[in-house]
Amino acid sequence: MSFQAPKGVKEYVPPQASTFYAIRAAFAETARRAGYSYLETAVFEDTQLFARGVGESTDVVSKEMYTFTDRGGRSLTLRPEFTAGVLRAVLEHGLHRGQLPVKVWTDGPVFRAEAPQEGRYRQFYQLDLEAIGSEDPAVDAETIALAWQWYTTLGLTQVRLLLNSLGCRECRPIYRARLQEFLRALDLDEATRARIEINPLRVLDDKRPEVQEQLADAPLIGDHLCAGCKSYHDRVKQLLADLGIPWEDSPRLVRGLDYYTRTTFEFDHPLLGAQSGIGGGGRYDGLSEAIGGPALPGIGFGLGLDRTVIALEREGVEPATPARCEVYGVALGDEAARAMFTLVNDLRAAGVAADMAFGGKGLKGAMKGADRSGARFALILGERDLAARAVQVKDLTTADQTEVPLAQVVDVLKGKVQ
Ligand code: HAM
Repeated sequence: MSFQAPKGVKEYVPPQASTFYAIRAAFAETARRAGYSYLETAVFEDTQLFARGVGESTDVVSKEMYTFTDRGGRSLTLRPEFTAGVLRAVLEHGLHRGQLPVKVWTDGPVFRAEAPQEGRYRQFYQLDLEAIGSEDPAVDAETIALAWQWYTTLGLTQVRLLLNSLGCRECRPIYRARLQEFLRALDLDEATRARIEINPLRVLDDKRPEVQEQLADAPLIGDHLCAGCKSYHDRVKQLLADLGIPWEDSPRLVRGLDYYTRTTFEFDHPLLGAQSGIGGGGRYDGLSEAIGGPALPGIGFGLGLDRTVIALEREGVEPATPARCEVYGVALGDEAARAMFTLVNDLRAAGVAADMAFGGKGLKGAMKGADRSGARFALILGERDLAARAVQVKDLTTADQTEVPLAQVVDVLKGKVQ
């Protein structure tokens, strides 16, 4: 019997996994430079955290959660997103009692029971960044700018930023009622009619042409923002313009999670087809109270690593990944293999990526290994070299070979590969 990964679980193996790793590392640097600290939170949480935080009426909570009962009879759920858990951790560890905003980021696998297809998986990977405790448009613009900077650093040029404001607890209910009134008068199926009563904004997101046709004159949130939300949104846009970040106003942009207020945004990639959303986020000023915390505004985003990897492939961009192997040792004979083992270890300690042929391969097989490793240099050590306390350094790109004293080879190679 042989096993396969469960359906919809995305895995990364070499060589693609090195791209995956490199783009995460690039994000760590982007976040560090902007004062965001790394944190690691629970992979599974009390089911109620997501029900209350993300919202019972969302697809994520009502249809896509991996929920199980543990041996103690507790209902737990594999995280379908990061924000609720990150905020829970910030509150639980009292980080919000220090300097505000609390700026944190994390990454890892996220789980949603969706129908798998390219770019849509059941175990996928997000980079998540949150700024908790400030209601300042500059924080909104900062988070957007950091995601933008990351995409740019990776070399992506076709990412689009879609921007909207979903209003606040003052203006949203008024808009919601107006929208419901409009939607109730339309010719819609039973399920959609039910959605009007629970989550009318989601109806705007309906992709079916016969529904979209009827929505042409739907009232838009942008026309119903209160003065506070309007000036807040204008300021966010002003700051983005100062940074030269282009955006598209998307008055119908509704996110799939219930906690959003005011600034909401998505990053879209035109070469990704149906799963074009490569990242998204927004402000969630009521989330803390919804999960039993104090009033604490926040904003953040989740970037889809899987879709970003696809976007890089579609744009034909290869982010720079550090060489896996720069020097490859080929030893002939038992004594030489012993000396090579020490030499490779010394090279690694000196910061050179080094590997060697294992398993007592002959010269031909070992040199094939050197070629496959991608190394620039092969170190060849035979019994005669060993007696002369020297090693042959072969440049695999030019086939030039020079003899270097064993005692100097680490320094010589260090100079050549750096
Ligand atoms: P989200 O829009 O649900 O937001 O997910 C963020 C990103 O995760 C999406 O833009 C997409 O790239 C990726 N993604 C979502 N579902 C899948 C899937 N099934 N397969 C592959 N990739 C997927 C959130 O999760 C919010 N927590 C973001 C946030 C943070 N808002 C505020 N702070």
